[in-house]
Amino acid sequence: MQAQLKCIRGACGATFSIEDVLYTCPRCGSLLETGYPGLKLDSASIKKLWRERRMSNAALDQSGVWRYREMIPFIDFQRHTVATLREGNTPLLPAPEAARYAGVDALVFKHQGFNPTGSFKDNGMTCGATQGLRLGMRRVACVSTGNTSASMAAYAAVAGMTPIIFLPYGNISFGKLAQALEYGALTLQVEANFDQILALVRVLAERTGIYLLNSMNPFRLEGQKTIMVEMLDQRDWRVPDWVVVPGGNLGNVSAFGKGLRELLALGFIDRLPKLAVVQADGSAPLYDYFHSSERGEFRPVTDPETLATAIRIGDPVSWPKAMFEIENSGGTVERVTEQEIADAKAIVGRCGIGCEPASAATLAGLKKLVAARTVRPGEDVVAVLTGNVLKDPDYIYRYHTNQLKTPSGAPILSNFGNAPRVVPNDPDRIAAVLEETLGAGL
Ligand code: F0G
Repeated sequence: MQAQLKCIRGACGATFSIEDVLYTCPRCGSLLETGYPGLKLDSASIKKLWRERRMSNAALDQSGVWRYREMIPFIDFQRHTVATLREGNTPLLPAPEAARYAGVDALVFKHQGFNPTGSFKDNGMTCGATQGLRLGMRRVACVSTGNTSASMAAYAAVAGMTPIIFLPYGNISFGKLAQALEYGALTLQVEANFDQILALVRVLAERTGIYLLNSMNPFRLEGQKTIMVEMLDQRDWRVPDWVVVPGGNLGNVSAFGKGLRELLALGFIDRLPKLAVVQADGSAPLYDYFHSSERGEFRPVTDPETLATAIRIGDPVSWPKAMFEIENSGGTVERVTEQEIADAKAIVGRCGIGCEPASAATLAGLKKLVAARTVRPGEDVVAVLTGNVLKDPDYIYRYHTNQLKTPSGAPILSNFGNAPRVVPNDPDRIAAVLEETLGAGL
């Protein structure tokens, strides 16, 4: 079994060595994916092996990505160095209040915000950085709405490579920018949006030989597909009916679909969950395309807007992969308003779980899918929370203090608000406030 890069366009199907530095097919320009022709695994013994590795202190076994290394055998584990921060290992968290809010009997969050840098990007970045090391790269780059850059900066530091980060100036959360600075990345804030900067960085990578670690890098997606492997391992291989995930550049849903298809082909599972992608109203080109009656050209949104800045992307690179995976799984695409995201986020918070705005699109989207009867209340749903609650504290404070506004300036209601109160340094008056708020009999 020899790992290879393969063009995803069936009519082309060109294959390349995984030691070639390629992001798109040099013949037809389509996206590439990593493939393992002839890969066969004995699912029963491998499942057992993966479970046993949870008891091990070896770095690769402790990683919730490399523990499943039989699914991502693109490096030689004896020869190549792996850049790991023990990523993955993210919990499945039942959330009854969120389930009630969405209108389903039960809901479980797979919370990728528990990762070392606080987002699902770490699952992919450990693979991207490891491949960069294997190729002898000294410098790595990405454009990011914040989480990719935080993750890449950390993994580049671990791997001893120089991280160069391109950010849309003024449109990433402070927490994410702070991470990039703290991990020592050369940070360039460009006066353009994500889509424009990605085009710029693709040209720069070609010209300067810097290794690009955006999600069009097929090795990143190999890592992200293990999120589904870990989820199923944690559920003793019980396949959910739905997996709900927010969509921005659409790398994550593409990775999930690939991973699930491979698990099915290898005999680890006997059916696929349906994939539901949720986009923010002002940045929903996949929603428009998926639901258009005649699927002509894919139309990017030229001026994407949303306070969920992580998914403020109008021209998602991985849309062809995402479309294939969603349709192949029998899934769907939903879109949600700023108000819906903000309220859903507060509900995730009330569950004691919390997440960043883009992640809350999953709960908001699920609620709409249930209302539309696309998802039935009794179905088994896993919603993926992509980023940690502390990624964007400014948004939280504004919501709870009734100061949050949509990008066009309309007020967002603080429907589940929880504003802090200022009280004097006086026990009697504080006791009175407590009694008034919480009731008598304190
Ligand atoms: N949720 C969060 C928290 C994200 O940071 C992103 C993407 C997504 C969802 C969407 O995932 O792009 O795979 O569809 N953030 C990228 C970044 C674009 O630069 O950090 P996707």
